[in-house]
Amino acid sequence: MNRFVNKSVIVTGAASGFGKAIAEGFAREGASVVVADVDLDGARVVADALPKAIAVRIDVADEAQTREMVDATIAAFGKIDVVCANAGVPHRAKRMIYMDTADFDRMFAINVRSVFLAAKYCVPHMPEGGSIISTASIGGKRPRPGLTPYNASKGAVITLTRGLAVELAPKIRVNCVCPVSSATGFDYTMSGQREMNPEVEKSVIAGIPMGRRATPADVADAFLFLASDEAKFLTGVALDVDGGRSIQ
Ligand SMILES: NC(=O)c1ccc[n+]([C@@H]2O[C@H](COP(=O)([O-])OP(=O)(O)OC[C@H]3O[C@@H](n4cnc5c(N)ncnc54)[C@H](O)[C@@H]3O)[C@@H](O)[C@H]2O)c1
Repeated sequence: MNRFVNKSVIVTGAASGFGKAIAEGFAREGASVVVADVDLDGARVVADALPKAIAVRIDVADEAQTREMVDATIAAFGKIDVVCANAGVPHRAKRMIYMDTADFDRMFAINVRSVFLAAKYCVPHMPEGGSIISTASIGGKRPRPGLTPYNASKGAVITLTRGLAVELAPKIRVNCVCPVSSATGFDYTMSGQREMNPEVEKSVIAGIPMGRRATPADVADAFLFLASDEAKFLTGVALDVDGGRSIQ
């Protein structure tokens, strides 16, 4: 398919995990892609492998750097059709009362402030039919112990999505994706271990009716669908990519 020919797409957190798969998916279907990440070297590796792409360094919590990312996109591709506000971080899994307040604030800035900033600075450059898609989490709908502040940040992403959808309709659609656990860099940030403990992984999978964790391709497919014409009447949707995890 070539659903995104002549489209300009920003993907944050695109140096690894979901963001990398999202950037590659849009590029495969003809888009020009801004591969944006705090890890510039990683972003360059991804961008260099795509036909029409630039790498941009950004801390998504930073207002000035968000403006610079928008300027770089306009300079390279002239417009912004799709914004994928995907960058986000968990915190080390622990009970909420043991979390440092400064870590709470920083995580909220990366996960929530970033969506506000991306919308604030991208929307003025977006044409009719544009689309904003964020990465929330199934934990934003169905929180479980250990990641309470993180899950609250993703709940905020879902509410921002629904509120923005109403504010920006009918010109721009705003949706988000709610993935279940996936073996990305996220695991490392959350646990400090490169690979999830096999016993923990077994219990995670036991809670997912489809019998496996999500893959970056599962999440990228949802982004491509939500940005496509097939989703032209969908706005304010928080699409579960969770193999049924949130049902039980
Ligand atoms: N993997 C999971 O289990 C899971 C489940 C649900 C939701 N999510 C969400 O998916 C999104 C992508 O995470 P992932 O799983 O691909 O993890 P990942 O660690 O592989 O990728 C995250 C990327 O974001 C970048 N990043 C981190 N902080 C940044 C900042 N301040 N500014 C710009 N870039 C920054 C990292 O360098 C990295 O490239 C996040 O929003 C995460 O919360 C992940």
